Amino acid sequence: PTFFDKIAGAPKAELHIHIEGSLEPELIFKLAQRNGVRLPYESIEALRAAYAFTDLQSFLDIYYAGASVLLHEQDFYDMTMAYVERALADNVVHTEIFFDPQTHTERGVAIETVVAGIERALADGEKRGLSSKLILCFLRHLSEESALATFEAALPLFDQYAHRLVGVGLDSSEQGNPPSKFARVFAKARERGLKLVAHAGEEGPPAYVEQALDLLKVDRIDHGVRSIESPTLVKRLADTRIALTVCPLSNLKLCVFDDLKQHTLKSLLAQGVAVTINSDDPAYFGGYVNTNYLATVEALGLADAEVYTIIRNGFEASFVTPAARDALL
Ligand code: HPA
Ligand code: ZN
Repeated sequence: PTFFDKIAGAPKAELHIHIEGSLEPELIFKLAQRNGVRLPYESIEALRAAYAFTDLQSFLDIYYAGASVLLHEQDFYDMTMAYVERALADNVVHTEIFFDPQTHTERGVAIETVVAGIERALADGEKRGLSSKLILCFLRHLSEESALATFEAALPLFDQYAHRLVGVGLDSSEQGNPPSKFARVFAKARERGLKLVAHAGEEGPPAYVEQALDLLKVDRIDHGVRSIESPTLVKRLADTRIALTVCPLSNLKLCVFDDLKQHTLKSLLAQGVAVTINSDDPAYFGGYVNTNYLATVEALGLADAEVYTIIRNGFEASFVTPAARDALL
């Protein structure tokens, strides 16, 4: 087998995937028809043609439009099941999935409906060999009050789905919405013993990564690629082994880097940072986990040892216990 075959066939963990970002155009149109939702796109082709992003916000506008077709428990099941199939095909054995409850509750969909549909698919996936956890993300372009209300509404779910729903995260428009805006809701989540992650240093400055560490006290940083602009921050990440969930094709499609060859993943890895490779929003950015690995290996010329380190980092930075981790491999 070739080096690429070995990577594709290796058991992997995925730690940065927005389930709403796994909605393929075909399923968006199918659900729109099923639910009588009108989309501002004529056809699957017209929707796909709109996937020409210039920055994070230009993507988020289309991503939220796509999610508008999700209304019923079965819709969340179908979306999640389609991702489970893709993950299994890529030999992902463990995945930690983000969902954005406010995207749905703002349209009148109950948070219980969202979680029930996702959970049913993940339970089915588990029977087929895909271990999984779920992370509730707050939308940072909305208010602190909205995040606090979402957290309160989710409290019974953290008990009911304790086996799955293990943490909270922070996503959406980064610039102008620093981690400091959400210090109180993250403190509440921490008091409850939940795992904590936040998107930081994707478009925002290294100072946002430092805020996520100091004020939110996160266990991992999502993206974090702009950390490289601060040598002291890179050293801190390396020393503490706080992992970065890097998403190379996302960074390329959202113009964080002009070319994958300019991606700083290899340099971060060389400086001792616990880098992982993930798909972010695979239906929008051109591929699932294996495509991200292969494109990155090709563009940066990663060696065998570097790739195996990245794969191992994915398991080490995951939220499964060391014993459960060994059972995955
Ligand atoms: N960044 C911020 N918010 C997001 C992303 C992302 O890459 N994907 C989905 N929501
Ligand atoms: Zn993301």
